[in-house]
Amino acid sequence: MEQTRRDFLRFLGRTGVSAAGVSIIGPSVLLSACAEGGAAGLPFVPLMPSIQDDLLLPEGFNYHVIVRWEDAINDLEKFGSHNDFTAFMPLKEGDPTDGLLWVNHEYLKPELVHRAWLEEKTLEQVETEIAEVGGSIIRIRKGDDGQWNLVKNDPLNRRFTGQTVIPFAWPEPIAGSNEAIGTLANCAGGITPWGTILTCEENYDQFWGEREHGQEELSMQGYYGWDALGQRPPEHYGWVVEINPLTGEAKKLVALGRCMHEAATIHECEDGRVVAYTGDDTEDEHLYKFISDEPGTLERGKLYVANIERGEWVSLQWDEQPILQEHFANQTEVQVYMRKAAKLVGATPLARPEDIEIDPKTGNVLVALTNNKPKGNYHGEILKIEEGDADKRGLTFKAETFLAGGPEMDFSCPDNMAFDAQGNLWFTSDISGSSVGEGEYAPFGNNGLFFVPTTGEDAGKALRVAVAPMDAEFTGPTFAPDGETLFLCVQHPGETSESMEALTSHWPDGGNEMPRSSVVAIQGEAMKAILGGKA
Ligand code: FEO
Ligand code: CA
Ligand code: CA
Ligand code: CA
Repeated sequence: MEQTRRDFLRFLGRTGVSAAGVSIIGPSVLLSACAEGGAAGLPFVPLMPSIQDDLLLPEGFNYHVIVRWEDAINDLEKFGSHNDFTAFMPLKEGDPTDGLLWVNHEYLKPELVHRAWLEEKTLEQVETEIAEVGGSIIRIRKGDDGQWNLVKNDPLNRRFTGQTVIPFAWPEPIAGSNEAIGTLANCAGGITPWGTILTCEENYDQFWGEREHGQEELSMQGYYGWDALGQRPPEHYGWVVEINPLTGEAKKLVALGRCMHEAATIHECEDGRVVAYTGDDTEDEHLYKFISDEPGTLERGKLYVANIERGEWVSLQWDEQPILQEHFANQTEVQVYMRKAAKLVGATPLARPEDIEIDPKTGNVLVALTNNKPKGNYHGEILKIEEGDADKRGLTFKAETFLAGGPEMDFSCPDNMAFDAQGNLWFTSDISGSSVGEGEYAPFGNNGLFFVPTTGEDAGKALRVAVAPMDAEFTGPTFAPDGETLFLCVQHPGETSESMEALTSHWPDGGNEMPRSSVVAIQGEAMKAILGGKA
């Protein structure tokens, strides 16, 4: 029989208070008991699973909200919906308390936007929705009280939306145009060594549908009904977009190929060229690597896809692969239909590649594989790629599981990751809102933030350090350069709400307030102890 939320509550009621000796919930219970006794050497007691509508933290941590959905960032623009990836850039050298925060806005829940479950939308309502996605640049500053605040009306604050015109960085037009209208589905991303932001367009098909290679007709329509504005080519979305946060200049990086990009993670080579790793977050899709031709630009280079069994990065160059020449007219077609090209050259299907991080101590590339439910893989894993060439330009590697999800490990569905300055790994889980607390996912409670120490007796264990409000996931973990703050997004609280009278979350404002995706700053003595004052 499937466990329900109520069963889970009963279960917590039975075992939550006296945890020691109960093994059904996995190692965190035992770790908690251990930490309470002081033997684990951790500065906090890991949390038990919970399904409360709150952002829960262990003693020693606290949080405050920096910015929430619909907050005015200036007199004309509002902070968008469903915040995901974040990146922080200090504005003045030597001052870690003042900078720009880039924030992705991945998607929206139209019913919350309109405060109504609508049968049809007016053009004005569609225009309201299309302004919810994209990204925000906001100036944030730490006050004397240690709290980070939005600097409203700072001249550098700006929005990118589904209406922002962005050129393609590519010599050929894409679906008949040198520019796209809008960026959307902005999930995770990356930062370049030259100070630009990479924002990744993931589930673009929900907005402007999809079209198969060689077809005129769309193979699917968008979900939001935005074609009231006129259908836009699906080929204009699904790119990694590079943004200069100071000038607002943006371009779609065709050289990195088109798919449902989750993230783009950069390694700078000794000669200044860069390697970009990016995954396609759909069941049985692939992991890609791009090697730039020159330092300082991602506009030109070579694209490869992972064959995990052989430990090989396989070329997606049209002029090197006869099979690609059989199916595509030129390299531009390969870039636009990269998924199809990847399959033709023998890419390994993976369990939804999400975020990618490079371990600062070992140089290993960690890839979150969140799950593959159709294949019975409910809990996913973090995969470790050890490149044959330490400078990462080689074409061979070894791959193995770094951390497997599941009830015995007390986490499921890994998604966003970040390393702190001490080399500890932090990651978030993404059990979908409709599955939280249900069936296979009952033991895990709401989504969480997990801390994986790399030293000490808990090294390699995933310790729950935060629990998200109802239906929400944590996204966009970024350590601030002040050595005491983790910026973190709470995305889609209340996602399963079915009416304004039955909202499933009221976070962050409580009472009967609307749920709002928000960016928070997590701080406290325990955080300071972990980070060791290092940024
Ligand atoms: Fe938007 Fe793959 O998470
Ligand atoms: Ca994600
Ligand atoms: Ca990350
Ligand atoms: Ca996800």
